[in-house]
Amino acid sequence: MTLSTSIGRVLIVGATGFIGRFVAEASLDAGRPTYVLLRPSSENHSKNKVDKALQDRGAILLNGLANDKELMVKLLKEHNIEIVISAVGGGRILDQLSLVEAISSAGTVKRFLPSEFGHDVDRAEPVEPGNQMYKEKRQVRRLVEKLDIPFTYICCNSIASWPYYDNTHPSEVIPPLDQFQIYGDGSVKAYFVAGTDIGKFTMKTVDDGRTVNKSVHFRPDCNFYNMNELAALWEKKIRRTLPRTIVTEDDLLSIAAENRIPQSIVASFTHDIFIKGCQVNFPIDGPNEIEVSSLYPNEPFRSLDDCFNDFLMKMEGENPKQSNENPASKPVVEAIAITATCA
Ligand SMILES: NC(=O)c1ccc[n+]([C@@H]2O[C@H](COP(=O)([O-])OP(=O)(O)OC[C@H]3O[C@@H](n4cnc5c(N)ncnc54)[C@H](OP(=O)(O)O)[C@@H]3O)[C@@H](O)[C@H]2O)c1
Repeated sequence: MTLSTSIGRVLIVGATGFIGRFVAEASLDAGRPTYVLLRPSSENHSKNKVDKALQDRGAILLNGLANDKELMVKLLKEHNIEIVISAVGGGRILDQLSLVEAISSAGTVKRFLPSEFGHDVDRAEPVEPGNQMYKEKRQVRRLVEKLDIPFTYICCNSIASWPYYDNTHPSEVIPPLDQFQIYGDGSVKAYFVAGTDIGKFTMKTVDDGRTVNKSVHFRPDCNFYNMNELAALWEKKIRRTLPRTIVTEDDLLSIAAENRIPQSIVASFTHDIFIKGCQVNFPIDGPNEIEVSSLYPNEPFRSLDDCFNDFLMKMEGENPKQSNENPASKPVVEAIAITATCA
């Protein structure tokens, strides 16, 4: 049972970004008064299109920087914002320190969700350069807690996609069509969550009394796969088998040590997930943590199987002629008929 039913005004910081867009769409889907903070206008046309699309759906656009404390206090008060969700990117995590101070000063905000959307940063300890981002996320957590701001930390694990070791937004890329790169022996499991579900479940938590001052972990049973299982699932979709090469622990550590940003950061997270098992090597049993399916047992997750169907459809959209000749195009039709979810 959700304890609170109030519909507070939501401000989303980073709504033009990869994760933020899912959250903004979900906020609008949920019928919430949705404000989005946009950085001063850019020449980036794809982002301008996102702004326009959100505005067309009813979002109220505000201009400013999260790290401009004075402005943020003014905006929060002026619009009586009750919920702030930040999805600033990994390179801008510390911009949130001023935002947190602004939230504390404004006095309108009943819940803050900082830019997390990954692992429990107080537990996981990836090698550098990934750990630097975690140190910064921990710094934001500690300030939130020190200023006594009610919070929820979203630990949603991996996004549903092939987990390329060098891509920050892997769900934008079709899984391999030539060969699989398997990390280690491919047996370590992880959780894969559709971007739309990251948005949907995040929005469910924002005024749920059970999630106040808690870390909410996303562990949908049906989307629990290791690399070998993931490869087999994709092979079933494209109706052919692909060769596998092994990317060893040492390979991942070497790529991380190259310190190329952001690829080396992704390699360090890949090592943490698929070699060290950072998503699965702890129980969720502390007083300040909760698993999202236990909160909303009747709310289905999109299955990874279904998300992989999306990639097939994308392939067909990008290259209709070729995919007509490709046996992989046939299951697309079947896939549309069987839209899989899991509770
Ligand atoms: N679980 C996963 O698989 C996964 C994958 C990727 C990311 N993540 C996590 O999700 C979070 C968001 O990352 P992302 O990759 O979605 O980020 P992103 O695509 O780089 O987007 C960042 C967003 O923040 C905005 N922004 C940055 N600094 C700002 C500031 N000072 N004031 C206002 N807006 C600002 C950007 O605005 P502009 O449009 O102006 O650039 C953009 O909208 C991070 O914590 C990251 O670690 C998780």
